[in-house]
Parts: sequence; C-alpha cells; structure tokens
Amino acid sequence: MCYDDADRAVGRQSAGPDSPSRRAFSRLLLAGTGLAALSACAPDQSPTPSGTPGSSPGPVPGTGGATPTAVAAPSGSPASNASATPTPATSSAVPPSAAAHPPSAAAHPPSAAAPGPQHSLTDPTSPWVIVNKHRPLSPANFVPPDLVRPAVRLATSGEAGLLNSTTAAAAEKMFAAAAAEGVIMTLASGYRSFATQTATYGSYVSSRGRAEADTASARPGYSEHQTGWAFDIGDGSGADAFTPQFKDRPAAIWAKANAHRFGFVVRYPWMLHPITGYYYEPWHLRFIGTQAAADMSARGIGTLEEYFGLEPAPAYR
Ligand code: DAL
Ligand code: ZN
Repeated sequence: MCYDDADRAVGRQSAGPDSPSRRAFSRLLLAGTGLAALSACAPDQSPTPSGTPGSSPGPVPGTGGATPTAVAAPSGSPASNASATPTPATSSAVPPSAAAHPPSAAAHPPSAAAPGPQHSLTDPTSPWVIVNKHRPLSPANFVPPDLVRPAVRLATSGEAGLLNSTTAAAAEKMFAAAAAEGVIMTLASGYRSFATQTATYGSYVSSRGRAEADTASARPGYSEHQTGWAFDIGDGSGADAFTPQFKDRPAAIWAKANAHRFGFVVRYPWMLHPITGYYYEPWHLRFIGTQAAADMSARGIGTLEEYFGLEPAPAYR
C-alpha cells in the first residue's frame, strides 16, 4: 500500500527516503532522541523504558468528545498533500520537517463513496471505529466481547496474543499468505486492556516524560489495541522491532504491499503524525475490512482520518 513518504507529495517534498530532512531525522533517532519514543508500541515482554511500568499511570483524559454515532462516509477525494506547506519544526517532540501543516480533513469532505457495507465510526465493535487523540474509546473500559487467540505465530503471550474474532480470522489468512511467500510474520502485541495500556503508557511517561510518550504510546482509553482491531507485527528475529527501521524488514515490506488484501492498513504512516498523532509505526496494523482497505490503497489515502473525512488529531484536547 502507498502509506509512506515515497507515495505522498508532502513526503516527497519534505521527508522522502533520501531527503535531507529524513536523514536529519534518522540522525536524531540514532542519537537516541526519538528512537525510544518510536518504540512505545512494545509488547508486554519487550524491554521497557527505565522506570516501573504502571507505577505512574498517565492521566486518563475525560471521555468527552464522543462523536455522533453514525455510519461512515469515507472521503471522496484521494488524499493529496500537495497543498501542505512544510514549516520549520517548532517542538523538539517533532522530527525535523515534520511540522508541515497537516492536510486538512476539510479538504477531503466525506462522500457517499464508501464501498461495501457502512459501519459506525464510534462503536468500538465496529471495524471502522476511529480511535485517536480526539476520539477516546467509549466506554473507556471497553473489552471486546469476542476475543480469541489467532492461530498464528505468536511472539507474545497472555492477553497480548488475543484479537477480536474478525481480526483474528483476517490475521490468520494474512500470516498464512505471507508464510506462503517465505515471509515470517509474528503477532507481537494484540489486545491490550485499559489496565495494560495504563501500565504501558505510564512506563514511558516515567522514563521519557509525557510529551515524548504521547508521540508513541496512547493514553489509556485511547489505544486501538484496546479495541481488538489492531496488532503489532514482528518477524521472529527481533531485529529492528518497534523501531522505524522495521520498515525495511521483509515482514513490514510485505505487510505494506499486501495487508490491504486482508483488510488491514498501516495505521501510523511515515510523517503523517500531524494527522494521526503518532510517529511512524510500520508494525501497527489495523483491520477495517477488505473493501475499505483496498479502497484506501487504490486511492493513496494514508490515514483513517483522511479517509473518513475526520479532523486531524495531532494532540489531546
Ligand atoms: N502505539 C500506539 C499508538 C498505541 O499505543 O496504541
Ligand atoms: Zn500497535
């Protein structure tokens, strides 16, 4: 799928794979200023930042801001960031060149072009539920009613090996297809309860501070992992796990090119954190159904916010 800078005007102009800005960002990462922040979506058993996980739970913002329950109407316009005007970074929490004005969702008004059945954007049991920094889960303590353990190669245990039943079935097909092409894919982190997300986010706040934690780890009640519709992949080697460099591992390359065939999108693409609120996570896949995922891919739309005509959610309100 076309989810990163190589396929998007803003990326080509400001942060393409070989651009100065991307090299600068990479240097920052290598210097350790951003790598940890980019690895917060870690499975339970992964090394955690210094500090005691869960000892300092991050605050749980109010659960207000719920949007009307309505079926979605994906944006009718292919995403185009050509009008985005890159500006200098204004915060150390933002990588160089990343402070481009986010593509305005208003520039992509919803249309009735949604293929296939329509789904709610607010019901956490809906494959189109949008969870971001403006749209907490409701209820905040939601637990998917149909959690199952998919028959895939697991690189985790306990609740992190669970997905909702629809996502699990799609994951089984995708992992099998990848394996048939010689690509090892592992389920590194699936479902996370509110309590687990509280511990995960809290550990990053404890070690990195809240601002940096917020670039990589969702506050409790704001994580897609709690819905059962999302999971992180690994490749069985542990190499580059939960780092931006994972994008070059066969599992990530394969997922980027093929995940849409199984209903998944790479939820947090490169340089689209002004829209999604999170730095690049080439390992984090989100199920939205095969028709919508294929439609997003075909139209070159990188984020669910753009696809469904929603406002960017770069920060908590
Ligand atoms: N790493 C993603 C944003 C999460 O914590 O849900
Ligand atoms: Zn994730």
